[in-house]
Order: sequence, then structure tokens, then C-alpha cells
Amino acid sequence: MQIILIGFMGVGKTTIGSLLAQKLMTNFVDLDQQFIDEIGLTPGEYMSTYSEAQFREIEQKILVQQLSQIHGVISSGGGILTLPSSRQLLRASKFKVIYLASDFGVNLGRLQGDDNKRPLMTHLSASELHKLWEQRQAHYRSVAHLTIDTNGKTPKMIVEQIIKTMIKGDDKDA
Ligand code: S3P
Repeated sequence: MQIILIGFMGVGKTTIGSLLAQKLMTNFVDLDQQFIDEIGLTPGEYMSTYSEAQFREIEQKILVQQLSQIHGVISSGGGILTLPSSRQLLRASKFKVIYLASDFGVNLGRLQGDDNKRPLMTHLSASELHKLWEQRQAHYRSVAHLTIDTNGKTPKMIVEQIIKTMIKGDDKDA
């Protein structure tokens, strides 16, 4: 099973991805963690010295590597679809793309309560972040095979829903 999770910062992609991989008894890779392993800096640390464009370039290289190497579940960074070429890569891949959707307010609340500071959080006001969230919705939806509404659900519930939906062969919205 080849699955990649996409969605905005704070939606829980890493937690849900690792739980999903456990349930499916398959491999799990987190692209932000791969970045840290390869570069030796968190995305936040990297972007405080280098540009976002440089970060996106490395992030895309890591995406390409993992799409060709891993058999299992990938969790991505929230901006993975920023480059049009990355959107194209996902459309052309064999991975099932699952969009973890949530209301902006829920996302913002999680991010504010998260001490793992994200670079975009520190540079953008809440209204700029909302604009970014809106822009990204279109990208996530244009690439996703399946959209899961995560509002008010625990990671365990979301994982069960993903598995149930995939077994039933339903798609688009759950
Ligand atoms: C980013 C999200 C982060 C990380 C980087 C940029 C973004 O990942 O890749 O800081 O542009 O939304 P998470 O979505 O795991 O926070």
C-alpha cells in the first residue's frame, strides 16, 4: 500500500501517518524528519538562514527520493504542494494521496498550542496564515484522491476511517 498524507500545518499528518502505518503493518516516513536527517537542521532552522525557495528545492528532492524508495506511508510537510512541479510529481505517482482536511480555526488552535515553532507561524499574522490556508486548499483538493474531514476526530478515528474507506474503495470525500 502506497499512501501519502497531505494537509495544512498542525492537522496531525505525522501522528496519523505513523499510526496508519502501524495498523497497515508497513513502513512509515516523515518528510520533515528526512529533511532533518539529511540536512542536520529542522525546516524552521534552515529557513531562518536560507530562503523558503531553497527549502522547497531540497524538500522536493526528498519527496522524489521517497516516492521512488518507500513502500508504505509518507507524511509530508504542509507546503509540499507549493511548487507546481511537486503537484505534478504526486499526480504522476502511484501513491494514493490522502488530504487531511480541517477547519482553519482548529488548525490555528493546534499550532498556537504547539511549542514546535514553525517558521511560517512566526512570520505570518493570523490573517496572512488564513490566506495561505485558503490558497493551499485548492492545491490539496486538486491532487487528493481522498479527502478526510478530521474535525473533532481523534487520530485513531481518522486512521480507522481511512482504512474503512480504502477497503470499501470509496473515494473523494469521507
Ligand atoms: C511547512 C510545514 C512544515 C515544514 C515547514 C514548512 C509549510 O511541516 O515542512 O516548516 O510550508 O506549511 P508540517 O506541516 O509538518 O508542520
